[in-house]
Amino acid sequence: MRPFVFINIAASLDGKISDESKKQLRISCKRDLERVDRLRADSDAIMVGIGTILADNPSLTVKSPELRELRIKGGKVENPMRIVVDSKCRTPLNAKVLDGKAKTIVAASEKANEKKIEELKAKGVEVVIFGEEKVDLKGLMNYLHTIGIRRLMVEGGGTLIRSLIAEKLVDEIYIYYGNILVGGKASPTIVDGKSFDEPIKLKLISLEKFGEGILLKSKLV
Ligand SMILES: NC(=O)c1ccc[n+]([C@@H]2O[C@H](COP(=O)([O-])OP(=O)(O)OC[C@H]3O[C@@H](n4cnc5c(N)ncnc54)[C@H](OP(=O)(O)O)[C@@H]3O)[C@@H](O)[C@H]2O)c1
Repeated sequence: MRPFVFINIAASLDGKISDESKKQLRISCKRDLERVDRLRADSDAIMVGIGTILADNPSLTVKSPELRELRIKGGKVENPMRIVVDSKCRTPLNAKVLDGKAKTIVAASEKANEKKIEELKAKGVEVVIFGEEKVDLKGLMNYLHTIGIRRLMVEGGGTLIRSLIAEKLVDEIYIYYGNILVGGKASPTIVDGKSFDEPIKLKLISLEKFGEGILLKSKLV
């Protein structure tokens, strides 16, 4: 068993999610940022790869006080859980995801350093071990389901997205295309790493002009 898993990502019209610097690039318009905040507020947990933590240092919390209030009224905690896929426990001890504003799980593998595991635990982080080298994503998803995560939002980056799709662990993907071109062979894309053995078929759910860009929603079939 696993949660319902959806990816939400912002890309340029040429499919880049950052530029060659790999640092956070503002792609979304204000309206889109509000949509993303609602998606977060409606999720039980938010997952990112360690590459995204190191590049962007996101806090992955719900920004709107009204949406946080609604969560509390609905019997939930203020913010969804945060999950970092991080084999070697490279999450910096001063990362924003360790700010205590929500529960954080670092999903590591047997490659993780014992001392760093203890340091993360001392900061209130739950460290779980799945897999020998890279994180065993199926095992992790099963665990997340057992602890009550039913709706999981994945916010990138491209390397994690590729693995999740290759392992058939994704139900839907939402892409906000900002009306920009980024270029650059080395710029991260929505799906990075090796190409799939066969192209992945998707079923279009919707396509709309949204704010200053385009919002596309597809189902994995
Ligand atoms: N535009 C957007 O919406 C958006 C959103 C998020 C990120 N980004 C951009 O994306 C870039 C970061 O993406 P990224 O591809 O470098 O990193 P990533 O996908 O965030 O993280 C990938 C890392 O996760 C770890 N990992 C552990 N087990 C894994 C598994 N089974 N499968 C895949 N990864 C696993 C690996 O590092 P270890 O081996 O060390 O564990 C891997 O290198 C940044 O430039 C960021 O700005 C853009």
